[in-house]
Amino acid sequence: MVKRVRTAVFPVAGLGTRFLPATKAMPKEMLPVVDRPLIQYAIDEAREAGIEHFVFVTGRNKGVIEDHFDRQFELEFTLEQRGKTRALADLRSDLPRPGQTSFTRQQEPLGLGHAVWCARDLVGGEPFALLLPDMIFKSEPGVLKQMVDAYEQRGGNVIAVEEVDPEDVSSYGVVARGEGPDESFDITGMVEKPEVAEAPSNLIISGRYILQPEIFQLIADQPKGAGGEIQITDAMQALMKNQDFTGVKYAGKSFDCGSKIGFLTANVVFALDRPDIASGFMDELKKLTGALPLSVDDSEH
Ligand code: G1P
Repeated sequence: MVKRVRTAVFPVAGLGTRFLPATKAMPKEMLPVVDRPLIQYAIDEAREAGIEHFVFVTGRNKGVIEDHFDRQFELEFTLEQRGKTRALADLRSDLPRPGQTSFTRQQEPLGLGHAVWCARDLVGGEPFALLLPDMIFKSEPGVLKQMVDAYEQRGGNVIAVEEVDPEDVSSYGVVARGEGPDESFDITGMVEKPEVAEAPSNLIISGRYILQPEIFQLIADQPKGAGGEIQITDAMQALMKNQDFTGVKYAGKSFDCGSKIGFLTANVVFALDRPDIASGFMDELKKLTGALPLSVDDSEH
């Protein structure tokens, strides 16, 4: 019997520089895909996978995230007065239960590994999930649920991976694949943001992890890696010496909302999947594509 994964860590301290000026005063995790903030997608995915404790590693300017996961009595009162019972019920069901959230701060932007390390005391000595809210998915069941299924079979550490074009690997952590089927295979190595020629495969780490608590000590000892930052991938590579890592090539599609194109694409795809707006939105898209070619500059700044 493996120890159940109850806690999830959400690193939300990043500065969001790729989305300035939108993210000057507002956390990037609150950018909406249709009408739900990015962070809500990660929370929904974690709840579906059975997570009961939601640990946020925040930074300056991130107080709104804490407010988002709190009751809003004035708003709820007004919705009630206006008979908007559906909207009210939806707001309430989006919330973790009382006492299920914890918040800590990463005081300096020293890297993803360091952000995770900041959560060590809140996680304690248990296995935990790590979800990077920039990545959201269309998948059934959710990606973390698929990983928990693999974890319950194999224990150890689990990483969600996906294939990308070989020339895109340098933006991600990349794993080396060993034996086993797509749902759960051995990971035999990993490297953060390799040069294309040095990448062990085109399987990238998709921002979802299940990790054993021994990772924290390894992060503490970890020198700076790619980009001069303390990298979780380097600490995982060290943990691989003593513990197993399983890759899950999940069923579904990811949207890297850390990039403008990924974010805009997510908005289109999630909107077209929403019964209340899909057909109206599709009509508008058709009108737009009829008017193509629009003048476009295809460089993403
Ligand atoms: C982080 C991880 C990387 C992973 C990526 C997924 O990189 O370090 O291994 O592939 O998230 O989005 P970042 O996007 O923070 O540079």
